[in-house]
Amino acid sequence: MNIEKRINELTERINEANHAYHTLDEPVITDSQYDAYMKELIALETEYPEFKHPDTPTEKVGGGILESFQKVEHRVPMMSLSNVFNKEELEQFDARIKKVTDNPTYVTELKIDGLAISIRYEKGRYVQAVTRGNGTVGEDVTKNVKTIRSLPLSLKKPVDIEVRGEVFMPHRSFKKLNEARLANDEPLFANPRNAAAGSIRQLDSKVAANRNLDLFCYTLVDAEEYVSTQAEALEWIRDLGLKINSNYAIVDSIEELEDTIDHYDDLRKTLPYETDGVVIKINDFSLHETIGYTVKSPKWATAYKFKAERVWTKLNDIYVPDRTYRRHYAGCRTEPVTIGFTRIESRLPTTRITSAKKDIRIGDFVWVHKAGEIIPEVIEVDYENRKDQSCFRWSRRARPDVPVKRQEGEADHYCTNPDCPGKNMHRLHSFRESCHDGHRHARRARHRDASRTRFS
Ligand code: IVH
Repeated sequence: MNIEKRINELTERINEANHAYHTLDEPVITDSQYDAYMKELIALETEYPEFKHPDTPTEKVGGGILESFQKVEHRVPMMSLSNVFNKEELEQFDARIKKVTDNPTYVTELKIDGLAISIRYEKGRYVQAVTRGNGTVGEDVTKNVKTIRSLPLSLKKPVDIEVRGEVFMPHRSFKKLNEARLANDEPLFANPRNAAAGSIRQLDSKVAANRNLDLFCYTLVDAEEYVSTQAEALEWIRDLGLKINSNYAIVDSIEELEDTIDHYDDLRKTLPYETDGVVIKINDFSLHETIGYTVKSPKWATAYKFKAERVWTKLNDIYVPDRTYRRHYAGCRTEPVTIGFTRIESRLPTTRITSAKKDIRIGDFVWVHKAGEIIPEVIEVDYENRKDQSCFRWSRRARPDVPVKRQEGEADHYCTNPDCPGKNMHRLHSFRESCHDGHRHARRARHRDASRTRFS
């Protein structure tokens, strides 16, 4: 048997099977057949490394630890999108567009909640993947993106192109990952997006390979060279063998646009990955230059953000910075709850409190939502369900029964306990500081103390 021929044959069959399974969602061979091919290929490659094909699927398991990520400047900057939060703002967006063109046709796409990546192919071969970074300069994550199973290492045409898309972690992978971390007593990821971003920034690509990331492509850089609309660009990307999200639609009126958004809002609850909105783009590329750009984002597109889901839970603790005496609320802990796929619990970073200007107490029932779908926030206190909660503790070391006071119109609360351990600790620190740093420092610390204990 010709070894090289067999290696090439196995490489091709496995890559085809990967494409069918991970990109088209239509498996063509059984799992055991796949495993057998893989086993045979690994054995042959180990014995005859000189015949290893550049597109070998065995490299998708990662390997090689980087010292750091190289910075890469984007040839075409990666912009962000403006947001609209309701139908009224959407209608205003449509009205602005109509000042430039009479009957705009839009393409609507799901806004995938992951991280944006730019991927380059040369002569149809995968060469580089770079994170968005600050939009101008990103980090080279070629090795990690290579481990994404739906990413083809060779395209169906030998083209030099740059495509952009969203790397994300499907719900199933996210659940599995957090379960494993829980079992190992490791901190949990707050949501799939953080988990995806954390995985892509792993220096050891074996770690990324085990995180089961996925990718949807949605932008073809310099697309006008090949096609003339966004819908054509998506199909063109798909024809090359890359994965796109099929739930896109072409709409011709604001009414249709609004109906489509409602449809997506229902649909997203059934999808196996997180979405946080709908991206609306002018379909016709020739209008893009006419409509133009702001410094940060194109004016021919916007993101309709879905309403943040909110849940009701009990507030178990409020944290305030010990070092300062003012009680501006730093964060809190609630009874564990889940909002969509975001888990709120004590192993995760603290929840923010945005109702800081209101009266909020430990033991209260509160409404929590995901702000910008990242950090959970307490947005409202359920006063009807308040029992006789006393004010919250000043710090972990303080007495729970000592109330705090807030001056009308101020957000900050102050401890009324003259013997507050938090304050005493701070005084001690200030004293030590002043011993070390001399007279000037001490005077400042005393001044600080005086201003902070005004309610004592
Ligand atoms: S188009 C000029 N399409 O949303 C901006 N972005 O808030 C081009 N995103 O940075 C982006 N799904 O990370 C586009 N179907 C989609 C998207 C999408 C998710 C993300 C992307 C972008 C962010 C903008």
